[in-house]
Amino acid sequence: METHDTNPAPTPVPVTVIGLGLMGRALAGAFLRAGHPTTVWNRTPDKAGELVARGARLAASVHDAVAAGPLVVVCVSDQHSVRELLDPLGDVLDGRVLVNLTSGTSREARELAEWVGRRKGTAYLDGAIMAVPQAVGTADAAVHYSGPKAAFDQYEPVLRALAGTTAHLGEDPGLSSLYEVAVLSLMWSVGNGFLQAAALLGAAGVKAEAFAPLARQGVEITAGWLADYARQVDEGTYPALDATLHTHLTAMEHLVHESEFLGVNAELPRFIKALAERALAAGHGDDGYAALIEQFRKPS
Ligand SMILES: NC(=O)c1ccc[n+]([C@@H]2O[C@H](COP(=O)([O-])OP(=O)(O)OC[C@H]3O[C@@H](n4cnc5c(N)ncnc54)[C@H](OP(=O)(O)O)[C@@H]3O)[C@@H](O)[C@H]2O)c1
Repeated sequence: METHDTNPAPTPVPVTVIGLGLMGRALAGAFLRAGHPTTVWNRTPDKAGELVARGARLAASVHDAVAAGPLVVVCVSDQHSVRELLDPLGDVLDGRVLVNLTSGTSREARELAEWVGRRKGTAYLDGAIMAVPQAVGTADAAVHYSGPKAAFDQYEPVLRALAGTTAHLGEDPGLSSLYEVAVLSLMWSVGNGFLQAAALLGAAGVKAEAFAPLARQGVEITAGWLADYARQVDEGTYPALDATLHTHLTAMEHLVHESEFLGVNAELPRFIKALAERALAAGHGDDGYAALIEQFRKPS
């Protein structure tokens, strides 16, 4: 993965932003702040008011918006809406670079890339925004792109207006969507773990705020294990570096029993235990935790 740090682009480049929801407005605002002539379009034109006051041009149609410049950024609710907007456009997309920052699946991204590939000289970059709208245009934001490297390189100085980290993940247009759900999966899992723990401790009257510092320490310790897990996952061997899966399973049983006894939700604890039991049944009892990758790789 190639990353670049943020800085306003030296040369202003006309940019089009289609979709002015919470995220689209933040994207257009960041391009304006970096000095790029910015044309915007939204299904509900009223949302362009503040951007127009700051110098954006409101296009009367998607066609006019696309025609305004070589770089077209789309950020709407879903990929179905992207296709609805682009399908009727005809050849106005030819020769431009389309950057789709709408969330979706890797399959949708590859399908759209294939559709765009049928236009003359049009390049498709798919992007995943790892930030809330308030962070767009600051060092706290990251946007990951996938698709043709040449198109990324051509407009990378412009795209840097959006985020502190601007990264190209690879030529496969599906990669950015895949990274997006992978990172969200990680974040939701950490969030669920914290909330399960807060529910358990809450049953004994412990406030979540009192637990938060210890929870943070736990997350940081876990983060320290990841490099070893990653190596083992890639190598396909999982020697126990600390505890074996047998030892983990005993502690997981305590988690299930505590949850059931205290009357809090025990679904996540049971799932955690079930995965480990399956790994043991497959002969990984003396291996370390990373052996669970083989359970995650299988369809459920
Ligand atoms: N907000 C975040 O924190 C965040 C973070 C990362 C990624 N994203 C992604 O960014 C994308 C946009 O999110 P958002 O927060 O900006 O959502 P939002 O505030 O709900 O805005 C949705 C936008 O999509 C437009 N839209 C929806 N259906 C449409 C259709 N059929 N035709 C034309 N336009 C349509 C809406 O137009 P109208 O104004 O006319 O309704 C609006 O401009 C999503 O894919 C989201 O997953 C968001």
